[in-house]
Amino acid sequence: MAKKTDTVERLNTGIENVNAKKVAEELNKILADEFVLYIKTLKFHWNIEGRNFHALHLFSEEQYNELRIIIDEVAERIRKVGHFANGSMEQCIADASLQEHTKTGRLTEEMMSELLEGHESIIRKSRELIEDFDKKYEDEGSADFITAVMQKHEEMAWMLRASTRE
Ligand SMILES: [Fe+2]
Repeated sequence: MAKKTDTVERLNTGIENVNAKKVAEELNKILADEFVLYIKTLKFHWNIEGRNFHALHLFSEEQYNELRIIIDEVAERIRKVGHFANGSMEQCIADASLQEHTKTGRLTEEMMSELLEGHESIIRKSRELIEDFDKKYEDEGSADFITAVMQKHEEMAWMLRASTRE
């Protein structure tokens, strides 16, 4: 029998194939936004300058490490519903709703509000998906999963918000 390399697995777990496909598509869009935010956070970590350099350098490292874990979890969730995770930067840019940060050179603390907006955008998207995954696509596992993703972003958003208060 020929090896299946690019065909989608049909699961026998109670999720309709058509619903699993929709869930995977939505998760791949979240994955794209996670990648954009991850790269932005790295860029901040590398190029931040100012009086609070050391604290912000370490703070952003914590945040990009957290994002890296989320990226891996989202990609693996897509595999668990029988589909393939997007690992192409080009495709990520096409799928993402977040914009890349394109300014070059020195970065300041002001970029933190852009990072915060990124987290808040993913939180809003995730919140909509909880309902869709649960009710529309009848995939309680993915609804629970995206709830946890949202909570992680809520924590990161809180930390960014608290750090930018005057
Ligand atoms: Fe570093």
